[in-house]
Amino acid sequence: MEKIKVVIVDDTEETRNNIKTLLSFEKRIEVIGEASNGEEAIFITKEARPHIVLMDINMPVMDGIKATEEISVAVPETTVIIMSVQGEHEYLRKAMSAGAREFLNKPFSSDDLIRTILKTYDLESKRREHSSIPKVKEEIKSKIITVFSTKGGVGKTTISSNLAVAIARATKKRVALVDLDLQFGDTAIMLNVSVKNTISDLIKEISQLDGDLMEDYLVTHFSGVRVLPAPIKPEYAEYITASHVEKIIKTLKESYHYIIIDTSASFHETVLTSLDMSDRILFVSTLDLPTIKNIKSGLDIMESLHYPKEKINIVLNKASEQFGIKYKDFENTLKHPIWSFVPEDSQTVITSANKGFPFVMTRTETKVAKAIINIANEVIKEKDIMDKDKDKEKSGLKKIFGF
Ligand SMILES: Nc1ncnc2c1ncn2[C@@H]1O[C@H](COP(=O)(O)OP(=O)(O)OP(=O)(O)O)[C@@H](O)[C@H]1O
Ligand SMILES: [Mg+2]
Repeated sequence: MEKIKVVIVDDTEETRNNIKTLLSFEKRIEVIGEASNGEEAIFITKEARPHIVLMDINMPVMDGIKATEEISVAVPETTVIIMSVQGEHEYLRKAMSAGAREFLNKPFSSDDLIRTILKTYDLESKRREHSSIPKVKEEIKSKIITVFSTKGGVGKTTISSNLAVAIARATKKRVALVDLDLQFGDTAIMLNVSVKNTISDLIKEISQLDGDLMEDYLVTHFSGVRVLPAPIKPEYAEYITASHVEKIIKTLKESYHYIIIDTSASFHETVLTSLDMSDRILFVSTLDLPTIKNIKSGLDIMESLHYPKEKINIVLNKASEQFGIKYKDFENTLKHPIWSFVPEDSQTVITSANKGFPFVMTRTETKVAKAIINIANEVIKEKDIMDKDKDKEKSGLKKIFGF
């Protein structure tokens, strides 16, 4: 059954966390995002299109009434429930006329909160039933992209998470992001999604795994990307095998158009499975000698595994020739062309990682965001070409430039 997607808007982090705890008792409800003021609320609601927004009234930057007004116009399928302190009649009246459908008096119990959400959701669903279009089961052609490197810290997680979000935004199709950095994966942190279950919980039910069960283990980022987080503790990694990973990817292929996989810097059997099953490997490097040496050995291994050359796409991250190594020398050493360049921009990359807002959503004007969006477009374009059964060769080795 579809979960009720909820966004929490309140300027106090503690209040947001309390509400999240209260909601964690109800399986039908999933919190997919939070915001600390009206402006962020509008942004997240437009992107994530939740069923319900729980909206505080008094907040800095933009209050809840203004935000409600804009949300009810821009995202009419989302229902706003106002959270107000008893006695704030005037505010409440304004909020309801701005488009809020329900209200909750603070403080509320877990029961009050869940009951109000379920009631509002059911009412809205009934209202919408008339206009709904019957769903046709489509056959999915999915594309698997593994972001890999033989060196740690080169930007795999930054690139994979922003790429997943960029593809979801551009295509509005179903995108899954799998964290196969099984010991130290930080995809969930990078995207600031709250983790209930991880891949370690999922493998306990691997024999029954199907598309429906998979949905219970994926968490939704407000961009729409569904994330399968890495284990919470590094020691859980050893229980996950290549055949588990194979089953997980096969199951995702049934219902996701794009499957993006973040990895650890090793040829562990789980990573190898993902590399084998991929349509494309984004092999991330930086321009320094130790990394280049590692990448070269990695490419040699891939050659011995008989991966087609066009499947391996070198992404040069933090790209700059200013430290003495030229792009041409790099390509000559590796005997492999650079497929894409991503510039260095610590300010954008680190602030966005710390806030959990991917820069491909919030800082689209930066060169680093443009570079990732270019990669996304290249990946999307190729899929379309495949769909139309045209010549695959043309797009395979083409270079794209981020800046
Ligand atoms: N283009 C960039 N410009 C500036 N900083 C970047 C860029 N790409 C990545 N970084 C920074 O480099 C560091 C490593 O990035 P990231 O965690 O994405 O790499 P990783 O390959 O996933 O690392 P690990 O091997 O530890 O999983 C982070 O601090 C990140 O913010
Ligand atoms: Mg990483």
